[in-house]
Amino acid sequence: MASKARVNIGVIGTGRIGKLHAGHIASRVSGAALVAVADINLAAAQATAAQFHVPVAVADYRGLLDDPAIDAVVIASATDTHAEIAQQTAAAGKHIFCEKPIDFDLRRIDATLAAVQKAGVKFQVGFNRRFDPNFRRVREMAAAGKLGAPHLLRITSRDPAPPPLEYVKVSGGIFLDMTIHDFDMARYLMGGEVTEVYAAGAVLVDPAIGEAGDLDTAVTTLRFDTGAIGTIDNSRRAVYGYDQRVEVFGPGGVVAVSNNTPDTHVYSDAEGVHSARPLYFFLERYTESYIAELQAFVACLRDDTPPPVTGLDGRIPVVMGLAAQKSYRENRPVRLDEIKA
Ligand SMILES: NC(=O)c1ccc[n+]([C@@H]2O[C@H](COP(=O)([O-])OP(=O)(O)OC[C@H]3O[C@@H](n4cnc5c(N)ncnc54)[C@H](O)[C@@H]3O)[C@@H](O)[C@H]2O)c1
Repeated sequence: MASKARVNIGVIGTGRIGKLHAGHIASRVSGAALVAVADINLAAAQATAAQFHVPVAVADYRGLLDDPAIDAVVIASATDTHAEIAQQTAAAGKHIFCEKPIDFDLRRIDATLAAVQKAGVKFQVGFNRRFDPNFRRVREMAAAGKLGAPHLLRITSRDPAPPPLEYVKVSGGIFLDMTIHDFDMARYLMGGEVTEVYAAGAVLVDPAIGEAGDLDTAVTTLRFDTGAIGTIDNSRRAVYGYDQRVEVFGPGGVVAVSNNTPDTHVYSDAEGVHSARPLYFFLERYTESYIAELQAFVACLRDDTPPPVTGLDGRIPVVMGLAAQKSYRENRPVRLDEIKA
């Protein structure tokens, strides 16, 4: 791989995030080419192929695995398909960038990671927020000891609007679909492991989400191996836009990042002082991070270095999500070591 001038990539699943990744690979990730797309909804695959001038669009992803010209695939299909596709991709000897979560079942995750290891292919998980410049700065400052040993972490993560119900039904639930990004951020920002979670949840946004067996509002308390404590608050609907803030506090100070806005104007009138709402949603807010994570994936293939977000980094937040589900159901703190495959 190290000698290859260009990494040929296929994208499996051309929904919200797959289309975004396809566009980035086609034009914004250097050293990579988008050579094929697949989606069980063939019309969606064809539309993405037409938009980005890709020669191959198929309904069955196995068509990509049989193609010797393809070096790597991005798995951006529905969560409940990741493990099977990843295992087949590994068996075909192709490198994998897999969207989060790998799966919601630890046995299937372990089988996937074993298949990856056996095949000797690279496997990177799509925890894109690690590549966001704001959060990276917080991580660097905490890691450099600017705060002393952190005592508190606070993450606010609220969507502007709930996803479609069809998505909710196969998403694994709020803790494994949405909070999972925050669980990853907690490990990343604090540079340590969580040992226990305590979750409260509610259906306050849309009763249909409750009828589909999910929650739309949650607060999760985290206890770290260092003794530090964290909180994550989630809502599926914030009327003012995508609310993504973090704060790490320690004996030496505090570092916080607030929301990115499309512009920084401040308008004052008789009603009050007004400024722009946060960037609307993840596609807008995290664009740079999505490009950077794929650029890092391509670099690890070309340089033959370990991926920056590993299979284990993909697995641990799933354990945290399963622990949060159990904590919510049983209304008690749950240690991560209670969660077994
Ligand atoms: N990292 C992030 O910020 C982020 C953001 C959104 C979604 N995601 C993850 O990406 C995945 C997709 O989410 P989405 O919002 O794009 O969903 P989506 O429903 O918009 O798109 C999923 C696509 O996968 C296709 N698909 C389903 N099964 C398939 C199969 N077997 N083969 C090929 N295609 C198949 C569907 O037809 C659909 O077009 C989920 O796992 C989700 O958790 C990650």
